[in-house]
Amino acid sequence: MSEEKQQVSRRTFLNYTLTGLGGFMAAGMLVPMLRMAVDPVLQTSGGGDFTNVGLAVDDITTEPQRVDWKIDQVDGWYESEVSKSAWVFKNDKNEIVAFSPVCKHLGCVVSWEGNEDYPNEFFCPCHNGRYYKDGTNVPHTPPLAPLDEYDQKIENGMLFLGKVRTREEAKPREEA
Ligand code: FES
Repeated sequence: MSEEKQQVSRRTFLNYTLTGLGGFMAAGMLVPMLRMAVDPVLQTSGGGDFTNVGLAVDDITTEPQRVDWKIDQVDGWYESEVSKSAWVFKNDKNEIVAFSPVCKHLGCVVSWEGNEDYPNEFFCPCHNGRYYKDGTNVPHTPPLAPLDEYDQKIENGMLFLGKVRTREEAKPREEA
């Protein structure tokens, strides 16, 4: 092999090596930057987590009671504290029920027995929306779907609530 051939070969080898090393170093810098930029968007918010809402199972009766709590919510880079509410009670089967108070018509807040003309019902004052105690919308009132339900679990005798689901999506309830 001639001296000139050996030099070309060495130069080519060095070119490949330096190019590869440069690319490797560039990737090493770019990957963390990309990850930092994209990660918050890919992360799920805290919506799927369960929160202790401060209500002991023993204090849950057949009378719906309103429970309020706060969660930390992360949307992309924005972190905020969000207020949540639920109407909680035990139904005829002694199952714990936790309804979202958000009206299925246009999103106002429903109240248990919010109108004296409609006892034993949830009532929405915005357009006189009504729901039976089991959350089903009363026919011929504005809401066209039942109230949503929270996922729930019980730990150490306390109620934990999670994600809100439509009636079709809701998981079977735990008996208390
Ligand atoms: S928003 Fe509740 S009835 Fe319209």
